[in-house]
Amino acid sequence: MEARAIIAAKRDGKALTQAQLDWFATGLASGAVSDAQAGAFAMAVLLNGLDGDERVALTRAMRDSGEVLDWDLPGPVLDKHSTGGVGDAVSLVLAPALAVAGAFVPMISGRGLGHTGGTLDKLEAISGYRTDLDAAALACVTRDVGCAITGAGARLAPADRRLYAVRDVTATVESLDLITASILSKKLAAGLDGLVLDVKCGSGAFMVDEDAAHALARCLVDGAKGAGCPARALITDMNEPLARSAGNALEVANVIGLLTGAEVDARLWDVTVALGGEALALGGLAADAEAGAARIAEILSSGAAAERFARMVAAQGGPTDLLEAPDRHLARAPVVAEATAGTRGFVTAIDTRALGAAVVALGGGRRVETDRIDPAVGLDNLAGIGTSVAPDTPLALVHAADAASAEAAVATLRAAYTIGPVPEEPADLIRARIA
Ligand code: URA
Repeated sequence: MEARAIIAAKRDGKALTQAQLDWFATGLASGAVSDAQAGAFAMAVLLNGLDGDERVALTRAMRDSGEVLDWDLPGPVLDKHSTGGVGDAVSLVLAPALAVAGAFVPMISGRGLGHTGGTLDKLEAISGYRTDLDAAALACVTRDVGCAITGAGARLAPADRRLYAVRDVTATVESLDLITASILSKKLAAGLDGLVLDVKCGSGAFMVDEDAAHALARCLVDGAKGAGCPARALITDMNEPLARSAGNALEVANVIGLLTGAEVDARLWDVTVALGGEALALGGLAADAEAGAARIAEILSSGAAAERFARMVAAQGGPTDLLEAPDRHLARAPVVAEATAGTRGFVTAIDTRALGAAVVALGGGRRVETDRIDPAVGLDNLAGIGTSVAPDTPLALVHAADAASAEAAVATLRAAYTIGPVPEEPADLIRARIA
């Protein structure tokens, strides 16, 4: 087999076989396939598409391009993936809650992409927390604590790391087929018994349009099932941030507030509970999603998830007293500025992508891969859709490294909020369930 023939077949609209895709993924991982060939392959797939069987075959091939974890544990191995949003710290709450319910969660997570936040960046805001666990350490923390959250490292799905970097510079990131294989290959390499997918739609999501979110959810669920992993997806609203905080240390503080009951954001709670319910049903730990959701809510309310989160943080190198003394371990920005509404009325719409971009501009995300993140910066106390405001009501607090970046963020925030004379009903949070 050779790369040129495989690329030519897809260029000419032919279906690729499992053997061809295995060969290509192995070549991506080993370096036998060049960057030029990887780019040509990605463009041929983007232009001519993959059918359902090819999508599953590419997912399997990329999953198997590196190590695939194998578990012998007294409970199902479950995970969740989100397509990304603003103020979306569900993973930090859900992983420990699932562990308390009897699941094992070796969560392979990513960094912020574009305007969206990344789970690894949030956790790295905790002093000492390590996101680079190797397979042995991941296995150890997962077995001992019930959950671990780390990056994919060099050994899981190496074909994806290579292809993703090439897609990024060849205008082929948008291919639904390549997105599906990319997301699933990393997740399934963790040896899962079940995967729940949170596919966001709305102004802060990559899929703004609900139909596009449906199409991606369908590809992901069918792709995972085809590759042998039971899966379900929720389509959830991202027309406003999921919580009042956006920014790494601020979101960790917000999560601690939810886990301890000190400050609970209803949207973050509801999405976590809904996804957790689906996951428990998938893993056979609940009769159905509704019963599973009730169990997750009980676990969160009882403080058991908080205790499990604290154990995970300590097991991954973080402090042992994060929940008792979060301010000691989470960086604080030197400048805090109010962005006031400037007018009277109700919040009727939010350009959530602009809020995410404001966090990136403050230094809370990356513009290029080598950018260093400032964990302290971001937005807090974000007003939600439907909030009644007067001219001096804060829409949010901006946490910034200096006065100039705070001022720029305040201007972005004001522009991102639409204030109207009559209240608007917020969109449904859970739009659809895809099995
Ligand atoms: N996340 C991934 O891991 N891969 C993609 O292609 C898009 C989002």
